[in-house]
Amino acid sequence: EKVVLAYSGGLDTTAVIPWLKETFGYDVICCCINCGQGEELDGLEERAKMAGASKLYIEDIIDDFCDNYIMPCVKAHAVYENKYLLGTAMARPAIAKKLVEIARKEGAVAICHGATGKGNDQIRFELGITALAPDIKIIAPWRMTDLWKMESREDEIAYCKAHGIDLPFDASHSYSRDRNLWHISHEGLELEDPSCEPNYEHLLVLGVTPEKAPDAGEYVTMTFEKGVPTSINGQQMKVSEIIMKLNELGAKHGIGICDIVENRVVGMKSRGVYETPGGTILYEAHQQLEELVLDRATTEVKKDMGNKLSQVVYEGKWFTPLREAIQAFVESTQEYVTGEVKFKLYKGNIIKAGTTSPYSLYNESLASFTTGDLYDHHDADGFINLFGLPLKVRAMKLQEVKSN
Ligand code: ARG
Ligand code: SIN
Repeated sequence: EKVVLAYSGGLDTTAVIPWLKETFGYDVICCCINCGQGEELDGLEERAKMAGASKLYIEDIIDDFCDNYIMPCVKAHAVYENKYLLGTAMARPAIAKKLVEIARKEGAVAICHGATGKGNDQIRFELGITALAPDIKIIAPWRMTDLWKMESREDEIAYCKAHGIDLPFDASHSYSRDRNLWHISHEGLELEDPSCEPNYEHLLVLGVTPEKAPDAGEYVTMTFEKGVPTSINGQQMKVSEIIMKLNELGAKHGIGICDIVENRVVGMKSRGVYETPGGTILYEAHQQLEELVLDRATTEVKKDMGNKLSQVVYEGKWFTPLREAIQAFVESTQEYVTGEVKFKLYKGNIIKAGTTSPYSLYNESLASFTTGDLYDHHDADGFINLFGLPLKVRAMKLQEVKSN
């Protein structure tokens, strides 16, 4: 029987290969899914084979991730607990879907992942897999404490050596990181104590702190069509390329560094730092355009929907009717989110520098203080009387009650 293993090439998932064979007698199909983690994929096949895998798939899902997972969240302005742009949470269902696809192709009976028993990722992988393939068995070695006896990196290295896998793995502890095209997350080490300032010198991978950003700001122009970014500085690009370009710009200008204590699904608080340089710019730019084209009532409901979506995505409930329904609502609000946005990047800030849209609802003559045909100041008299009527009635009642 075959098992599909979500394989990163790191020590943890490499040690899982001989363990799966030894513990269950499975034939191990490794699957390295590229969502833009930017790691060296060379030598991965030899590594997987040396560890005893019978096959290694390397699958590039960058565009699928951008178009079908990132963009719906951008359009909704989904932000978890006011800060987290969901980089890891959006990637897990995309990965789960690919794992299921390969498991089907290979006729595998099980899927194995290397997430720990304390985190959110186990939930996201498993809800994703269950929703798409309820018959496939899920194996989470880190939770199988009766069978998985390794408790440290040293244990894993020794286990690998004993199984003939001699690789230059580093026994030292670093941050726990997860990187993809959208972001990199950092957890562990000094971050585990919320009273500690992050050691940014060691920690940052994508960009620099605002202090180290250039003294000169940089203007950027972007266009959007129906909520989707289509160009940067006059150059047409697909979404994944736009995110890459924005990452480069944001990283340089110290944008998108976020230090948060967040509430995990499993109940604990966890402290982490995220770098989301391009994503932070994209959210802001999209918002800048929406301010011009969305009406107030739609904006209000959309904000609630975005909030709800952030929770749904964080909790790994991507393949659900609720996510689909929220996404359909948000999509219908994007019909006129078309136009051009200009802003300046400067030491961690994104400063607006002008917005235009053929669908702008902003009416200059209406907004300015001169009297025009469209707006008669006398209309405001009656409007305010009615708008304030419930307040007036209540105040009168309070006066009456007090004087009795
Ligand atoms: N706390 C973040 C989240 O739940 C990041 C998780 C990072 N995952 C990892 N395997 N390092 O989305
Ligand atoms: C893990 O525990 O595998 C990483 C952190 C998380 O999933 O939240």
